[in-house]
Amino acid sequence: MPVLDREPSRDSGGGDGLPKLPLPALKDTLDMYLSCMKHLLTEEQFNKTQNVVKQFGAPGGVGELLQSKLMERRENKANWVYEYWMNDMYLNNRLALPVNSSPVMVFPLQHFRAPIDSLRFAAHMISGVLEYKTLLDSRSLPVDYARGQLAGTPLCMEQYYRLFTSYRLPGTERDTLVAQESSVMPEPEHIIVACKNQFFVLDVVINFRRLNERDLLTQLDKITRMADSEQEHLPPIGLLTSDGRTEWAHARSELMRESTNRDALDMIERCMCLVCLDDPSGPELSDTTRAMLMLHGGGVAKNGGNRWYDKPMQFVVGADGCCGVVCEHSAFEGIVLVQCTEYLLKYMIGSPSKLVRAASVSELPAPRRLRWKCSPEIHKLLASSADKLQRQVKNLDMNVYKFCDYGKEFIKKQKMSPDAYIQVALQLAFYRCHSRPVSTYESASIRRFKQGRVDNIRSATPEALTFVKAMTDGKLHTSDTEKMEMLRDAITAQTKYTILSITGMAIDNHLLGLRELAHELKMEKPEIFQDEAFLVSNQFILSTSQVPTTVEMFCCYGPVVPNGYGACYNPQSDHIIFSVSSFLDSPQTCSAEFVKCLVQGLMDIGDLCNTCNSSSNTTQKKQGQTLETHTQTETNWQSKTPQRPADKTESQQSLPQFVLKTPDQTKVEAQTQTSSLAETPALKNGSKS
Ligand code: COA
Repeated sequence: MPVLDREPSRDSGGGDGLPKLPLPALKDTLDMYLSCMKHLLTEEQFNKTQNVVKQFGAPGGVGELLQSKLMERRENKANWVYEYWMNDMYLNNRLALPVNSSPVMVFPLQHFRAPIDSLRFAAHMISGVLEYKTLLDSRSLPVDYARGQLAGTPLCMEQYYRLFTSYRLPGTERDTLVAQESSVMPEPEHIIVACKNQFFVLDVVINFRRLNERDLLTQLDKITRMADSEQEHLPPIGLLTSDGRTEWAHARSELMRESTNRDALDMIERCMCLVCLDDPSGPELSDTTRAMLMLHGGGVAKNGGNRWYDKPMQFVVGADGCCGVVCEHSAFEGIVLVQCTEYLLKYMIGSPSKLVRAASVSELPAPRRLRWKCSPEIHKLLASSADKLQRQVKNLDMNVYKFCDYGKEFIKKQKMSPDAYIQVALQLAFYRCHSRPVSTYESASIRRFKQGRVDNIRSATPEALTFVKAMTDGKLHTSDTEKMEMLRDAITAQTKYTILSITGMAIDNHLLGLRELAHELKMEKPEIFQDEAFLVSNQFILSTSQVPTTVEMFCCYGPVVPNGYGACYNPQSDHIIFSVSSFLDSPQTCSAEFVKCLVQGLMDIGDLCNTCNSSSNTTQKKQGQTLETHTQTETNWQSKTPQRPADKTESQQSLPQFVLKTPDQTKVEAQTQTSSLAETPALKNGSKS
């Protein structure tokens, strides 16, 4: 299989017409680096860093040399940072994939009345996957266009073509992202179904015919019966994939000694995706619990072994209604995952399943159980992997919260970017909890460029710090008008940085490129990259990401450092879903406390906007001026967000578990970053924290 961790050799996603990622000027990046770090360092640290940066950027110095080499690289490559970024962000990372790297989408709780209902759900979803795969294989997926800031430009589609064709192969020092090339005569495709920690090959094309939904249900039914037979049970080999990457690489080499195992691994590595038919996980299935179960499977006692973490797409269908998608992140971003998942859920709503029962007599050959031959060494490694996964399960501190007092519409009425507003609120929450600012990561899409993935918006701006200090320090006696001005400054700074990032002019990718080039040229590591400030700048104690959806579901992921938070948010017109994660063994963090501070901050900022709007309205009235668009009733979120027409006309559609909302006429739901599915109806989120 070709290797994909280097830049893809051919244009596989319509990226040909897109511009190349620009290379910022060295001086701009260095100046920006200093201004991003000044307020995050002690005076002493900053003075040192200033000198180090000055030396690096001096005329004729190392910085200029590296910059000129980077310029050459830009000339010669489709995307100068792709390979560096992929290795740094994912493939070099030795941490276990669950919680640390693989994000998940959590579906609303499904209410399956009988075990067969969950299989019907799975069969329906697999049908959707096959439809979607046909679109991908025929290159018929419409090109996405940017939404939100700088809307309208086409986006690189390459990530979509890795959804069902790639595999992250573990390596002892670095993993490899490999892909199957689609050929003119594609070989029969298969899905791997995991059930009770056993793996089964579900061929989706038999005798040149693609299985229909009834066939799929029949095959899934056979699989669950085969999985029930305890005397045939094989060890839960999937647990090995939940271990650290180096450990899994060693275990995989051990497995590869046996031809039986080689065959099983080959089938898994070449499958389209996994469908994990999970056992019930326990009585309490709140949003928070389901998020945790999706992130780690509940450990060995639950469904932790019913996974294969190297595969980019794992659809989880729990018999108890706990469903979602687990994704290996190196192949694509959350936005692409959402687009694909929304297609599937809309497919399921739009083409109701007419299945009554599986065929009682089937001519289809039974799905094949994958066999493993386990040496004593493998048994030892399995015990160790199970133990480590259990520690992850015990350590995850998750809190999913649906903030219902207002949403994107209220923020837009303040003439502010909702994303920037939420980021400032996250800064306020962190400051309230910890009385200091920290390096913050917000992912910004750079898909406007060929092979573009993401860069970082450094949301801990000096302007945000000034604002959060004023909001939390009672002794400062800042007036509301002054606070409002500070809020506007913070939002302007955040929005400017966003634009910088999405236009390829941010600093993180650039600094990474300079560092990696020095390494490639076998130069001594420049001091700027050894400096303490550089370490601080890359310790993302707050790792955030906007993952909006138009269908009821939410995304979550774990923290990226031991003493940090993962904070994913899904802004909707009248509410915002937050998924906050941290580790219990860190004495410095607490997800519930963070959420409490976040809610308080959102209420305080909302109050501030209302107060300032109402006083400015009063002044305007006094001056006999006409009121602008912001009437008191429109913006008063405290008196409960007014029901939009769409809220009053909820209608149930075919799939009973999803509540369908009529299309919102006011365009408020069309808020995903891409437009290909934006016109489809939004689904009401009924999640509760
Ligand atoms: N006044 C009124 N409305 C405004 C506004 C203002 N000052 N500023 C923005 N808006 C509107 C926008 O027009 C947009 O409207 P729409 O909903 O009709 O499209 C909406 O508010 C949202 O814009 P904004 O909040 O500014 O954010 P955005 O949608 O541009 O998103 C990023 C910003 C950084 C999140 C986005 O560019 C991005 O990169 N997304 C990808 C993130 C990602 O990769 N996540 C997954 C990681 S795995």
